[in-house]
Amino acid sequence: MRSDEAIISGTGLVKRFADFEAVRGIDFQVRRGEAFGFLGPNGAGKSSTMRMVSCMSPRSGGELRVLGMDPDRKGPAIRARIGVVPQQDNLDLELTVRQNLQVYGRYFGLTRKEVRAKAVELMEFARLTDRADHDVQPLSGGMKRRLTIARALVNDPEVLLLDEPTTGLDPQARHLLWEKLFQLKQRGVTLIITTHYMDEAEQLCDRLVVMDGGKIVAEGSPAELITRYATREVLELRFPPGDQHAAVDKVRDLAERVEVLPDRLLLYTEDGDAATTRAHDRGVRPISTLVRRSSLEDVFLRLTGRTLVD
Ligand SMILES: Nc1ncnc2c1ncn2[C@@H]1O[C@H](COP(=O)(O)OP(=O)(O)OP(=O)(O)O)[C@@H](O)[C@H]1O
Ligand SMILES: [Mg+2]
Repeated sequence: MRSDEAIISGTGLVKRFADFEAVRGIDFQVRRGEAFGFLGPNGAGKSSTMRMVSCMSPRSGGELRVLGMDPDRKGPAIRARIGVVPQQDNLDLELTVRQNLQVYGRYFGLTRKEVRAKAVELMEFARLTDRADHDVQPLSGGMKRRLTIARALVNDPEVLLLDEPTTGLDPQARHLLWEKLFQLKQRGVTLIITTHYMDEAEQLCDRLVVMDGGKIVAEGSPAELITRYATREVLELRFPPGDQHAAVDKVRDLAERVEVLPDRLLLYTEDGDAATTRAHDRGVRPISTLVRRSSLEDVFLRLTGRTLVD
């Protein structure tokens, strides 16, 4: 397979639950070796899509190919070559760290000797060696997440699917996981990640699609999306709730676009400092002023009219 060839492709992909369409005809292609993201808010259809790709849930319509195969007909052959980290950890809490890895390895048909060696290697990778023979139950959220990822690697997968790998983790645990995922990518593993963290998508993903309401609303690299849908800088003017409305008319022509949030105005402009000065000259007196670079959050706001954080 050539490196630019799609390792996973969906065309008009649909997932229906009774008469509700959770995934409403999406097209996407993932190339071998890249880190590909599905970014979107709660209910966007990210997990539903991931579950179809990981052969855990059949599609309701459209086409899907994973490693060149149809999940409807080749589920076991696909599962043997992918790793899956579901949104909710599903570790066996009664078993130790080591046993969780070994049981999973046996499931993939490794010999006892192979699983023993593999478990040692993966515990090292997940920095859990000192917990090897401890129960899983009392591990911290970050440790459990690392173990779930380690377990998904037991069959040396070509593709690793991670559904919200760092949700609920503290910043340090998130950075450690990002480092681990980056190592895997360096080794050539294709990563597919869902997240509703913009910083995570910007850090990890070569390309991503923005999903909302079961549809893909934009696609590109983080930098491309920001260039296409936002300006270089954003000026944030924070007001006591309600007071921002009075200021809108005074600043509207200072920016390419103005977003009104419950406690803030966002002015999209190439030069945030210049806009700050001009707003001040016009008598606008916010509680605080911040000039920052545009982010994927701004892209999402532009595309959907909503903020991504719940
Ligand atoms: N088994 C199911 N039965 C019925 N509806 C479902 C089922 N699974 C998901 N849905 C619905 O499909 C929609 C998409 O859900 P999905 O879990 O794919 O979203 P998501 O993008 O992963 O959201 P989150 O960020 O909250 O994990 C939601 O409205 C959800 O309620
Ligand atoms: Mg989900």
